[in-house]
Amino acid sequence: MTAPASVSFVQTDLTALAEVEGVIACFVAADGSLGADARRLNRVAKGALKRAVASPAFDGLDAGEVLELGFPAGLSASTVALVKLDRRPSMMKAMAGGAALAKLRGSRPLLVLAGTMRRLGDVVLGAALRGYEFGDHKSKEATPAADITVMTKAPDEAEAAFAAARAQAEGVFLTRDLVNEPSNVLTTTEFAERLQGLSDLGVKVEVLEEADLEKLGMRTLLAVGQGSESPSKVVVMEWRGGGDEAPLALIGKGVVFDTGGISLKPAAGMEDMTMDMGGAGTVAGAMHTLARRKAKASVVGLVGLVENMPDGRAQRPGDVVKSMKGDTVEVINTDAEGRLVLCDVMWYAQDRFEPAAMIDLATLTGAIVIGLGHENAGVFSNDDALCDAFLKAAKDTGEGAWRMPLGEGYDKMLKSRVADMKNIGGRPAGSITAAQFLQRFVKDETPWIHLDIAGVASVSNGTALAPAGATGWGVRALDQLVRARFEATD
Ligand code: BES
Ligand code: MN
Ligand code: ZN
Repeated sequence: MTAPASVSFVQTDLTALAEVEGVIACFVAADGSLGADARRLNRVAKGALKRAVASPAFDGLDAGEVLELGFPAGLSASTVALVKLDRRPSMMKAMAGGAALAKLRGSRPLLVLAGTMRRLGDVVLGAALRGYEFGDHKSKEATPAADITVMTKAPDEAEAAFAAARAQAEGVFLTRDLVNEPSNVLTTTEFAERLQGLSDLGVKVEVLEEADLEKLGMRTLLAVGQGSESPSKVVVMEWRGGGDEAPLALIGKGVVFDTGGISLKPAAGMEDMTMDMGGAGTVAGAMHTLARRKAKASVVGLVGLVENMPDGRAQRPGDVVKSMKGDTVEVINTDAEGRLVLCDVMWYAQDRFEPAAMIDLATLTGAIVIGLGHENAGVFSNDDALCDAFLKAAKDTGEGAWRMPLGEGYDKMLKSRVADMKNIGGRPAGSITAAQFLQRFVKDETPWIHLDIAGVASVSNGTALAPAGATGWGVRALDQLVRARFEATD
């Protein structure tokens, strides 16, 4: 797994500033006043900081932006970075400041003079998240990012406060690695093996093979994978931080590659479907984060791992398959495969764990990308309280999420002539009919959220906190939701 940059917190010691190599960062409030450590750095750098702060360049910066001073006289450091940030910035501004530092430092060491900054953890988390690089398949080995050192008057406190953020960064990196991995590398088998790595953190991991799934009656899931050389699997991950209480169940769509099947997708852009396991990747990242910070909550993660390929054995449009629940589905379009995978895994999760709540994540529809773009995931729910709690957690972690409607009228669009339902509802409201399909596999008493992450799991232009490619969207929101709603407070 790509490891986030190592971060250490040390006692402020300004005696050797002149010898520090790499990048030295300090915070400057909008009014341009320098704190004690910045004043000291300014003296060593022969007044460069004060001159920079008095310049129009500093004036023109927004909060969270950085002014870069190259090769300042008096210092060994190659850059001094002035982060324009008030003592109590918003979380997003603080993270943006950290992200800007990550971008400018590249792989150089970074020393952050904390001064009186109140959102230090968010700055460092922003730097860690934006510092991600997926370099696994470049023959020229990437230079790993050097360490981040934070000088503060209370290093132990800062370190303790940062532990939970570090767990989030690791979870996000695991998700990004999985989502960025090409499909010839991340086969269903390789995916299951990587998930087994979570057992090092105390997560119980169990892999259900095709024969097991057949016995359970997961025919809709198996039908999706039957054209592939990679065997279909369901992986069950259990974190019992809350003992035997009814767990939160996280369900992920893990289509390691989606060609569309016999309803083949057009060639242009098909390579993007390497990320069609984003839901499963996010569940894996969230489980990592929860276990890493030893969350006092019980959470189970279940992912359906399949590959959707055209083949002599592949399922056809018009096939009728029976789900584990017992309902039959007429497969009108083999490219609407995610819901066929999820419905069996969701049913199994409810059957086996009787969860207190269930959240599924899936790169489910192109229609959600048309509706919400890359800014927000689509949120669908049968429970206002749970949904509001999730939306708040997403807001608190800066992850875009927007609630979409469900309703009987949409459900009717799934009516089939020959089976209990069709797997598509037609072009109108494509993301909603997909959610309606899933809701048919949610027991009335299970509070449930469906997250359509097709637009946010991977982005070609990068985001404030992620370079181009996988974002890890959802790991931090889910972690925050668990903290706010499912964790025992003692
Ligand atoms: N994996 C796709 C959805 C998708 C699209 C994910 C774009 C990420 C980016 C899904 O399996 C799919 O093919 N959905 C179809 C459904 C249609 C056939 C009803 C779609 O959205 O076109
Ligand atoms: Mn598809
Ligand atoms: Zn798909």
